[in-house]
Amino acid sequence: MPTIIKNVKIVNAEQTIQGDILIQNGKFAKISDEIAAQSGYEVVDGSGLCAIPGLVDIHVHLRDPGQTHKEDIASGCAAAAAGGVTSLVCMPNTLPTVDNPETVAYIREKAALTGVKVYPAAAITYGISGKGCCDYAGLKSAGAAALSDDGRPVESDEMLIEALQEGVRLNLPVLCHCEDLKQAAGGKVHEGEISKALGVKGMSSASEYEDIDRTIRLAEQVNAPVHICHVSTAESLRIIREAKARGVKVTCETAPHYFVYTHEKLLSRDADYRMNPPLREECDRKAVIQALIDGTIDAIATDHAPHSPEEKADFVNAPNGVVGMETSLAATMTYMGEILSMNDIIRLMSFNPAKIMGIEGGEIKEGASADFALVDPDEKWIVDVDKLHGKSKNAVFKGVELTGRVKATYCGGKKVY
Ligand code: DOR
Ligand code: ZN
Repeated sequence: MPTIIKNVKIVNAEQTIQGDILIQNGKFAKISDEIAAQSGYEVVDGSGLCAIPGLVDIHVHLRDPGQTHKEDIASGCAAAAAGGVTSLVCMPNTLPTVDNPETVAYIREKAALTGVKVYPAAAITYGISGKGCCDYAGLKSAGAAALSDDGRPVESDEMLIEALQEGVRLNLPVLCHCEDLKQAAGGKVHEGEISKALGVKGMSSASEYEDIDRTIRLAEQVNAPVHICHVSTAESLRIIREAKARGVKVTCETAPHYFVYTHEKLLSRDADYRMNPPLREECDRKAVIQALIDGTIDAIATDHAPHSPEEKADFVNAPNGVVGMETSLAATMTYMGEILSMNDIIRLMSFNPAKIMGIEGGEIKEGASADFALVDPDEKWIVDVDKLHGKSKNAVFKGVELTGRVKATYCGGKKVY
């Protein structure tokens, strides 16, 4: 049935207009000041709401196959839809690893039942172990949309170069988790005053930025694009900014927790604030905000990383990671709303990530797939982890009052939330 969204604020990265949207055959059929409803049309009153292009979250852990007590493809996609996310890239650190065509096919088949667009990233090395490059052409044929060893760096320069070059040939973006394991291994929180106070091993800023520097230099050497995941330190951003200025094809993302919180949160000894890279210092948080403003950071992704309450119970031994898809837009609107316009937020969370991945989405325009969300920009709500749609409760914004709420999400014209 054709649907008309009436009298809505249509927010794209470029501009905002007020008007009506006609959705027909899964696409934005018409966008105009006023569209007359015909009989048989569903009419949705959009007054007071924003229609935004569906968010494109390029860093998500769906945990399926293998760790479905944390999340599975259906629950992860339900969380996505509830957060206004219509397209997501899922990371390959599942059990088994996404290093073979069968596992890519498994994810695609299960994801096809959800209504959300899932783009599987395949591993760069077998088992994400650094022991040899995967068969990228075979993975691409099975439907892999990117390459990443997320969770670990690719320590071998030769293997990283092979992935970067094959990525160009096969049109597969390479998404790098940069971390010097010799420096960071065993670290629980950011290395500094707080790690000392807590008496736990820290992960230094250098363990992140030195590996970003190495990764960028390798990409530069072979003139290949590279995307840096979850950037958290001021020095990392200085390195990326300089690389961009000299023409390196580097893009990067951060996550809401890095512009909202600092390592002080860890004083609570609550493992729900532990992730990798860790929450850093106030100067880093400020640098992340500056980089969001000046364009050094291209995208906001979530690194949605579900873990069960049992696994998160032990502060020191809990696995790293926080869930984020259901709160990313609201957290960004709440904490960055005075610094970034809604158009900027859409550029960072929808338009640019779609471009980085080379996938559809990111714009409300005639002819495009009708992937969008209706958002009440003024609604205040408190994040209740028991009401999240994903399976896990390790949310950094638990109990926090956020402003801005997704009221409905449509993917390919179908209401998915
Ligand atoms: O915090 C994180 N969690 N960082 C990663 O790199 C991996 C992820 C996970 O898989 O839990
Ligand atoms: Zn990572």
